[in-house]
Amino acid sequence: MTAKPYLTGHYTPAVDEISATGLTVEGHLPPELNGGLIHNSHNPKPGVTPTHWFKGSGMVHGIRLRNGRAEWYRNRWVRTPALEDAPYMTGRGVDLTASVAGTHVIEHAGRLLALCETNFPFELDAELETVGAYDFDGKLRSAMTAHPKTDPVTGELHFFGSSPFPPYLIHYIAGAKGRSSTAPRSPARPCHSSTTSRSPAGTSSSSKAPSPSTRRVHQVGDARLPSEAVFVPAEGATGEEGGYLLTVISDLKQDSSRLLVLDASGLEQIAAVHLPRRVTGGIHGSWIPDTDL
Ligand SMILES: [Fe+2]
Repeated sequence: MTAKPYLTGHYTPAVDEISATGLTVEGHLPPELNGGLIHNSHNPKPGVTPTHWFKGSGMVHGIRLRNGRAEWYRNRWVRTPALEDAPYMTGRGVDLTASVAGTHVIEHAGRLLALCETNFPFELDAELETVGAYDFDGKLRSAMTAHPKTDPVTGELHFFGSSPFPPYLIHYIAGAKGRSSTAPRSPARPCHSSTTSRSPAGTSSSSKAPSPSTRRVHQVGDARLPSEAVFVPAEGATGEEGGYLLTVISDLKQDSSRLLVLDASGLEQIAAVHLPRRVTGGIHGSWIPDTDL
């Protein structure tokens, strides 16, 4: 059988769950980075060969930083019915809890949620253990997209839920912490782009894209794959580049990974955290400040 490209090289699944504390740091981690970088990935269990990359069970990799130290790394499968082979289609219809939950991980209203496009979100605790499927207190009546957007002014979470059955598409708005919960909006009508229309208070407009002459590149080296970089604003920053980019490098030659903290303006490396294993190439992730959980 031909090797599946999504199960080889950088995408070779991790075979177990580990936890490690007191990670080695090169350089100086900014002490204001207090929180966790969490990435999601499709990582089927040993012996399982999904027919598509996106059908592999979700595994989250987390690195917790606090006061200039890298406190821990851990990786955990998202424990859903799909991890135990429960089918998406059942005799009673779609099982929205049969999620691989391997596309994204976000925080909303104090909850950490692992997402995929076709199911309910799955709540995780701060140490990445699975709590269970989350349906916004019964108000979520469809799948939830894995690509929701937070309104930076109100804190509301905007997302759509799609279904092959009527009403096909629902636009939901979930209240910020301490506010009202998810309420459906505009059922059966296509919603507009899920990006928010307002600019963050005090930040530049997104039209301020760098000109080609200011393009900057950070080279990670041969046989190395960076994860999707996550931007973390610096305390008191007012511009779009005032902060840090966090990315996890999969290094095939060394069979290892490092978390790089780059200056978001010049892309210079500020610090690197040595991780105890190579982190599988994944999809999306988030920086979750301690103040949000
Ligand atoms: Fe995506």
